[in-house]
Amino acid sequence: MAIRILSLLFFLSASCKSTTTELQTLDFGVFKLKAPQDWTIIKEQGIDSYIGGLTNGKDSLWFDYGQYTVDLGEAENFKHLFAKDTVNGFAATVMKPDTVGKGYTSIYVPRITKNDKLTIWGVNIQEQDVVLKMFKSIVFKNSDTLKNPELTESKFVYSSYGNRKTLFFQNCAGCHSLNKELTGPALIDVMQKRNCDWLYTFLTNRKATIKDSIYLALSKKYDTQCQQFPNLSKEDVEFLCGFLLE
Ligand code: HEC
Repeated sequence: MAIRILSLLFFLSASCKSTTTELQTLDFGVFKLKAPQDWTIIKEQGIDSYIGGLTNGKDSLWFDYGQYTVDLGEAENFKHLFAKDTVNGFAATVMKPDTVGKGYTSIYVPRITKNDKLTIWGVNIQEQDVVLKMFKSIVFKNSDTLKNPELTESKFVYSSYGNRKTLFFQNCAGCHSLNKELTGPALIDVMQKRNCDWLYTFLTNRKATIKDSIYLALSKKYDTQCQQFPNLSKEDVEFLCGFLLE
């Protein structure tokens, strides 16, 4: 009897496997991706961007393509891992829940063209590995590069501050807005002249940037100084920087 059940289970899992290995191409116009046969397109229309989705009845994914993008905010109580990755030759951030099925599984591609970004996300995704493979299969219009290094488990790290928005609001928003001058300058403006490596040095090791002429001019203009953050990791600053340079 036990053997029969075991062989039935084996048969079922083997047949499940075969449906997931045969992939189809789903074409959303601005991008395509490969998905198992049971996934279909959900049509929606956006105003400033193109939004839509895809589902297999159990898991669903939503996307937003355009100049603006959804901010996933913080999925409270759930811990996430982040990976810096590449899809179709473009830099991307992949996020997945620490516990499969509890939180967001998403990919964010900040710069496809000067104006276009893409976010694809799903909530409480069961077949996480299938979805991560779907992300890796994305191909954009007018881009045929296949520079897609593998998304290995080792690329995923915890950001002690959660996502980029939290990082900004917990550490910087007390003095900075993105677009307005507060206690400190509007960050989008000052970041035009800076890059992520510089920001990391500036926040964690102020001594190294203290002689810089832009910095000197800013410190004359403002009464106070920018706070120092010796404990932010390089990954933290890179996540934050992605948010500031979008
Ligand atoms: C206590 C207030 C305060 C906090 C908190 C703060 N800043 Fe600042 N920041 C300032 C002030 C004031 C200036 C302008 C004077 C200066 O450069 O020190 C500034 C300047 C800057 C500049 C421009 C420096 C340059 O030379 O181009 C950047 C970039 C910056 N801050 C980023 C950040 C980021 C990112 C965070 C959060 C991780 C942060 N700041 C948190 C007050 C703050």
